[in-house]
Formats: sequence, structure tokens, C-alpha cells
Amino acid sequence: MRCCAIILYVVLGSFLCSAECPSGCQCFEASTTVQCDSLDLRAVPDDIPGYTTYLVITGNFIARIGYDSFKLLDNVTDLILSNNWITEVGSHTFSTLTMLRSLNLNGNQLALIHPEAFTVSGSPLQELSLSNSLYNHTSLTDLITAFRWGGLGSLRSLDLSGNSLLLLPPGMFSPLPSLKHLRLANNSLVAVYNSTFSGVELLEELDLTGNRFTAFSGEGLRELERLGKARLLLGHNPYTCTCGMEEFATWLNSSKVRVGDAEKLRCAFPGQLQHVAVQTLTAKVLLGCDHRGERVMEEVDDLSLQTSYVFLGLVCGFVGMVFCFVLYLNRKGIKKWVVEMRDACQDMMEGYQYRYEIDSDPRLRHISTNGKLEQTNRHDADRQIPTKSSTTQIPADVAV
Ligand SMILES: *[C@@H]1O[C@H](CO)[C@@H](O)[C@H](O)[C@H]1NC(C)=O
Ligand SMILES: *[C@@H]1O[C@H](CO)[C@@H](O)[C@H](O)[C@H]1NC(C)=O
Ligand SMILES: *[C@@H]1O[C@H](CO)[C@@H](O)[C@H](O)[C@H]1NC(C)=O
Ligand SMILES: *[C@@H]1O[C@H](CO)[C@@H](O)[C@H](O)[C@H]1NC(C)=O
Ligand SMILES: *[C@@H]1O[C@H](CO)[C@@H](O)[C@H](O)[C@H]1NC(C)=O
Repeated sequence: MRCCAIILYVVLGSFLCSAECPSGCQCFEASTTVQCDSLDLRAVPDDIPGYTTYLVITGNFIARIGYDSFKLLDNVTDLILSNNWITEVGSHTFSTLTMLRSLNLNGNQLALIHPEAFTVSGSPLQELSLSNSLYNHTSLTDLITAFRWGGLGSLRSLDLSGNSLLLLPPGMFSPLPSLKHLRLANNSLVAVYNSTFSGVELLEELDLTGNRFTAFSGEGLRELERLGKARLLLGHNPYTCTCGMEEFATWLNSSKVRVGDAEKLRCAFPGQLQHVAVQTLTAKVLLGCDHRGERVMEEVDDLSLQTSYVFLGLVCGFVGMVFCFVLYLNRKGIKKWVVEMRDACQDMMEGYQYRYEIDSDPRLRHISTNGKLEQTNRHDADRQIPTKSSTTQIPADVAV
């Protein structure tokens, strides 16, 4: 009798216990909340009480979730599965959660997302958070397919921040026509194209902070403009305040109301405009695009002029070198030539001198009339300096 009572008590107790709360988890019946935080769980516990509306399972090691993970939990409205190292989301994982309104898968490593991973009959899902959870670009492709197949027509909020996204395939959000809040912060986006946000006509807030936008092109601006009343967040991007930026700066100044953080948009480049607010830039005043263009042209001209001078200098130097080299090779001939020239000059000069002296000296003029004396003189001269070139040379004593 007593034995049976104990057995009954144990069985009943364990039944009640398991019905009340999975081991290690915290269950709050009053607030219909169950929390299983950092328990080293390898799977979603299968004894979560049916009253649960708010289910939190975080900080575990659950590699895979699938259609059998959430059974008999049709009261759950908010499911938080962040930081569980989840790599795979199977087909119809959440399809039993017909009341599911908010799903948070932040901080996982989703490498495999089944096309029907998010399919829930009745499309109750309104919020989906996938921040820091896409493993690589294949995951993004999978996710877009899951959007198409998932019947997420009621989704109002999507968080894809911190996923290193480089580009958004055109029309990727079009299966989400009710989207109001789209968070794409902390990715690596560089451009918005004309159909990036097609199909999301009800958008109220678009967060593009912390990406790699250097400016927005005309096409990107038209796309943002098309979003109508949506409030835009564009801060913490490396804006490059050079000539191509005028259109964006002008647009920003005229769209202050729509850009929620307009004053936070700062130039990251060039150095002299660093930290300057983008909205204060104007094409003429600060960017000085036209002016700068001219200056650049002038600089180019200057440069080409300098280049031609340098070239000219080089050519002259080369010619000079060749000349010197030729001179060097012919140094003997030149020396000879110089000596000859010198001698010839000397001869000539002395010839002049002689003639001058003959013409000016009255005694010599007198003698010169005497042909004999002149002959003797000439003869003496020849004897004294026997070289041929000295025939015209007259010894100094003649003049005396
Ligand atoms: C869901 O909650 C209702 C009442 O709040 C309850 O009657 C029902 O049994 C719960 N569902 C499950 C599967 O426990
Ligand atoms: C993404 O990761 C999966 C699983 O590791 C791999 O099969 C796939 O090739 C990767 N895709 C890219 C684009 O690297
Ligand atoms: C982006 O990253 C910064 C720094 O890591 C962080 O402070 C901020 O909260 C992140 N923003 C979002 C929306 O995740
Ligand atoms: C997007 O741009 C391309 C070419 O620039 C153009 O053919 C197309 O019609 C544009 N689409 C929209 C929706 O504006
Ligand atoms: C911004 O726009 C206002 C008019 O809306 C204009 O007066 C002002 O000069 C503009 N500032 C810049 C920097 O473009």
C-alpha cells in the first residue's frame, strides 16, 4: 500500500514536473514564458508546456531545427532562438506554430535554409530577425527562395543587419509586400539600384547605416525617392566628398525630413573634408567642382610643359656629350689644327706688322727703293728662320 503510494507519487511527481518545465529551463506560468538559457542543449526540449507564448532558447548548441522541433506549441507567439549555433533550418520548421508572430534567429550560422523553412499556415509571422546569422552568400540565396515560398505576406519587420551583405539581388523583398521596417545596417553594401526595393511600397523605415556607401548615384537616389514616406537612416558610411557627390549632397539638403540622421552623414574622404557634414556641401561653394576641374587641367598643362622642358634638357645634354666625345676622339687632330691655326694667325699678324712697319718707317721706304738691300734682307730672313711658313717673317734687327 505504502509502496504503491510512493510509486504513484514519484510517477505523478515526475509527470507534473515534466509537464511544468524542461530540466534546467525557467518556466513562468503567469506570464506564459519559458526560458532555456545557456544549458548546452543539443536540441529543442520536447517537454515545453503548452501554455507557453513566449519561448526563449539561447546560448546552446543546437545544430539543426526542423519540422519536429516545435510540437504541441500552438500558443507560442514569440520565439527567440538567438546564439544557438544553428546551421540548418529544415522544411516547415515553424509550421505548427500557427500563432507565431515574432521569430528571432540572430547570431546563428545559417548555412542551409530550406525553401519552405518559414512556411506557416495562415502567414502569421510579422517580425523576422536574422541579424549576424547568414553564413555566406549561398545562405542569402536560400533565404530569398524561402521568402518566395514562405507566404510571408504579413511580415512587417525584417532585420538583416550584420550579415556582410555585398549586394541585394533586385526585387528580393518583393515577396514581402507588408514590410514596414527593413534593417540592413552593418553590412557591406555599396549601391542601391533601381529595383533593389521594388515591391515594398509600405516601407516606413529603412536602416542602411554602417555600410560601405561612398555616395548614392542618381539611380540609387531615385530608388530611395520612390520609397516615398519611408524614414531613411544613412549614417556611418564612408562618404567620399569629391565631384560625383554633388547630386547626393543636394538631394540630402532637400530631403532632411526623410533622412532621420542627416546631420550624422560625414565625409570620410578626402582628408581636408573629413568629418564635414555632407548636407552642407554644395557643388559650387565647397566641392568647387567646375573650378577644381579647371585647376586639374592647368596642372596637367603645367606638367606636360615641365615634361617637355625636361626632355629638351636631356636631348641637349646628350648632344653635348656626343660632341665632347667626338672632340675627345679627335684630340690629336684638333691639337694639330689648333697649333696650325695659331701659327697661321701669328704669321698673318706679323705679316701685317711687317707691312705696317715698312709702310710707316721712312728709312725702310728709302731702302725699299734700293732693290738690292731689300733682297739681302729677305735672304737674311730666310737664313735665320728656315721654316717655310716663316718666309714672310722679318727679324727685328731689320727695323733698326
Ligand atoms: C493554448 O492556450 C489555451 C488557453 O490559453 C489552452 O486552452 C490550450 O490548451 C493551449 N494549447 C496547448 C497546446 O497547450
Ligand atoms: C557557403 O557555405 C556552404 C556550406 O559550407 C557551401 O556549401 C557553399 O559552397 C558556400 N557558398 C559560398 C558562396 O561560399
Ligand atoms: C552595428 O555595429 C555597431 C558596432 O559594431 C553596433 O554598435 C551597432 O549596434 C550595430 N547596429 C546594428 C543595427 O546592428
Ligand atoms: C532600371 O534601369 C534600367 C536601365 O537603366 C531600365 O531599363 C529599367 O526600366 C529601370 N527599371 C525601373 C523599375 O525603373
Ligand atoms: C539647402 O537648401 C536650402 C533651401 O531649402 C538652401 O537655402 C540652402 O542654400 C541649401 N544648402 C546647401 C548647402 O545646399
